[in-house]
Amino acid sequence: MQSDILILGIESSCDDTSASVTKNNQVLSNLIANQQIHKKFGGVVPELASRDHQINIIPVVDNALKTAKVSINDINYIAFTEGPGLIGSLLVGSSFARFLSLSLDIPCIGINHMKAHILSNFINSEPKFPFISLTVSGGHTQLVLVKSFSNMKIIGQTLDDAVGETFDKSAKILGLEYPGGPIIDKLSIEGDPNSFEFTKPRVDGLNFSFSGLKSNIVQRISNQIKSDKNFIKKNLKDLCASIQNTIITILIDKIEKALKIYNIDKIAISGGVSANSELRKRISTKCKINNWNLYLPELQYCTDNAAMIAISAYYKIINNDITEASQSVYSRNNW
Ligand code: KG4
Ligand code: ZN
Repeated sequence: MQSDILILGIESSCDDTSASVTKNNQVLSNLIANQQIHKKFGGVVPELASRDHQINIIPVVDNALKTAKVSINDINYIAFTEGPGLIGSLLVGSSFARFLSLSLDIPCIGINHMKAHILSNFINSEPKFPFISLTVSGGHTQLVLVKSFSNMKIIGQTLDDAVGETFDKSAKILGLEYPGGPIIDKLSIEGDPNSFEFTKPRVDGLNFSFSGLKSNIVQRISNQIKSDKNFIKKNLKDLCASIQNTIITILIDKIEKALKIYNIDKIAISGGVSANSELRKRISTKCKINNWNLYLPELQYCTDNAAMIAISAYYKIINNDITEASQSVYSRNNW
């Protein structure tokens, strides 16, 4: 019988410093230090993100080990995010992981952040292949045909802005803090989703485009403010609900299209925007009606976390799929 595999996962691709300890496919700890410094800038400032990772990384890793009640000497593998993401941020996590690996003689595995988001669905769950994955985060929007842990093919992606970015930029014009996605989600609960109509992009096939919608939202709101400076205040909840409704409708339409084209009845959603309550509710209803299988990560594993990095490494190890970690980190998706 194979002995237990203990993995220390490290994630630092954007503005969250996270460390996790997993035992086989079980999460023993998952610690995340959110960087508050970006709120006042309305978006992530890369230079400040790197500096905060540097401050956070040692206490976060230390806490993850303590919470899991595991000593660093018991760790069998160290997994880290090698890309895509902000280069300065990635360098902090990857350098730290490589240094630990070298000094303690523990093998180290580089993980693709986007594939890890997809595999976050395997934490406390066992999705069946093949499935279509919709990965919706702050920097990416992808439809992926997933045939196995290692066989993943991008079948659609955004031609311009990402979904999370659209939520965040809309929030900014509404005067809400960064990240705006969760705030829009919350305010939408009491809003009327049909009170404002925004332009829906017409993109053939399985690709997405959000820049037209984003401009339309900004223009409509800016014009209204000219004639009524209290326009946002008076309509905030309705605006949030209408923006959210437009975005979620676009996503659900594409999911349906992808399932039909590939004749698949299983869908997995992941990434920060998969925490959106309206998306979760509407896709759950759709799946029930159509008898499709739906895989959704628990809320704590939707946004960036190191548990998904460690779990991805676990499946690489048991499937004998470990390749050399890249010599360097990368900002753009490389697959
Ligand atoms: O996956 P993630 O944590 O980081 C990236 O890899 O980008 O995703 C962050 C994005 C942000 O744009 C944030 O506004 C969005 O996910 N987000 C949400 C919600 N929670 C996070 N968007 C809509 N509704 C939410 N509940
Ligand atoms: Zn992410």
